[in-house]
Amino acid sequence: METTRLTVVSNRLAIVVDREQDGRWTIKPGSGGLVTALGPVLRDRGGQWIGWLGSNLQGELDEAALRDLLARGSRETGYALKPVELDDEEIQKYYFGFSNEILWPLFHDLPSRCNFDPAYWTVYERVNAKFARVVAQNTDEKEDYVWVHDYQLILVAAHLKAMGVRRSTGFFLHIPFPPLDGFIRLPWRSQILNALLQYDLIGFQTVRDRRNFMDCVRMLLPQTRVVGHGHIARCLTPEREVLVGVFPISIDFRQFADTAASQEVQDQAWIIHANLPERQLILGVDRLDYTKGIPLRLQAFANALERYPELRGTITLVQVVVPSRAEVPEYETLKREIERLVGEINGRFTEVGWTPIHYIYRSLSRVELLAYYRTCEIALITPLKDGMNLVAKEFCACSIENNGVLILSEFAGAAAQLHNGALLVNPFDIRGVADAIHRACAMDTVSRQARMEKMRRSIQKHNIFHWVNAFLRTGIHKDLNQFPRV
Ligand code: UDP
Ligand code: G6P
Repeated sequence: METTRLTVVSNRLAIVVDREQDGRWTIKPGSGGLVTALGPVLRDRGGQWIGWLGSNLQGELDEAALRDLLARGSRETGYALKPVELDDEEIQKYYFGFSNEILWPLFHDLPSRCNFDPAYWTVYERVNAKFARVVAQNTDEKEDYVWVHDYQLILVAAHLKAMGVRRSTGFFLHIPFPPLDGFIRLPWRSQILNALLQYDLIGFQTVRDRRNFMDCVRMLLPQTRVVGHGHIARCLTPEREVLVGVFPISIDFRQFADTAASQEVQDQAWIIHANLPERQLILGVDRLDYTKGIPLRLQAFANALERYPELRGTITLVQVVVPSRAEVPEYETLKREIERLVGEINGRFTEVGWTPIHYIYRSLSRVELLAYYRTCEIALITPLKDGMNLVAKEFCACSIENNGVLILSEFAGAAAQLHNGALLVNPFDIRGVADAIHRACAMDTVSRQARMEKMRRSIQKHNIFHWVNAFLRTGIHKDLNQFPRV
């Protein structure tokens, strides 16, 4: 495996290029689970990352300046960065459109939020072909393993094949795969399934996602045989064999735990604590996304204050919302709804010296984020559906005194590994979540520690390096004993 160069392909490059008010171009690390997860791995192994820079730079940045920025980015990230440029139409129809108005809601079991605009499909195909061309130009059949990530790029392997380019390829889906009755609504369901089967290895986050995929293959592609064998399954199409595995993504546990213990984080944690004293802090950290269940969570928090008056004045919810996909109309509506609810709940319950919800709408620095993980004793993570949810694992890694309590949605992929220590909740059950908040607040230290220790041990063992090794061993060496137990 060590001699094979790794090429990671994802919609976003690991950096974001932005323009300051004074006209200077800057680079920042990208946000989201994918960048957080793969950054340490590529740094460790070397390799290259192919992706979009996150905005339309055509006509704004000349080639020499772009090369310069990318070279700086490569030095900072520790690996080569190869950009794919998208024009405005492509950004609208491929990224905001097909990816985030069709695949994202459909795969998260929210078909009523889909906008099945046929114009989106044509551009999704075009952009996937563009990515495939950049892959072909920058890789070699013998040297490279091409690892494509996520729902934005399902067609890359199919386009490579159509171009006559042979590469060893793997695909990992970071988001859930929907059940058959959801998936069949997709007008391009056969194209998407057939395209997935052009990869040599397909990885899913959970057993449930893989089962859903296999059900769809059985039903919609009857000429393809599905063969299960322990943690390995295979799809035998008339032309080829495709491996299908379960690889729950994780985090760099050690790095989170060590940074959480650093002086810088402790100082910041002390500032937070000094400003919100004498209270148990409950933390929510989410991208602004309707899959994260933020409005129902706020209602559950209000329900807890209503039904357990002894909690008033003693708990504060710190809700961090990171701006995301602002051009999709649903996201703008959601922002207004969250702000209305925060205002309503604070208006109703605030007393002198106590505001129930501390609302933050921006991206946090790493030090700030870890300081919140350390200061808040309870994490309230209640997505309606989530591929994994790395925030849940990061919170546990940073709970270095083992005193944190994790309240976790049973519909987050992370629940499959953290069910032994977390308080699992149904995010649609407002009273149930409120009861879990009450239970978490009252939980004694011995129980907290026992639960948190279990979760931390599991994340430490099944860390990000375990995830990458398991995927690559299977993909490159076809080492089928390396499937992680789930
Ligand atoms: N995160 C971030 N900036 C913030 C808050 C969080 O980059 O201000 C990171 C967080 O550390 C985590 C990721 O965003 O790694 C969120 O990943 P998750 O899997 O929880 O959800 P996603 O956003 O990928 O749906
Ligand atoms: C999720 C997806 C990633 C995506 C990230 C941030 O984690 O699985 O593919 O990059 O959200 O979303 P954005 O649309 O800003 O890239």
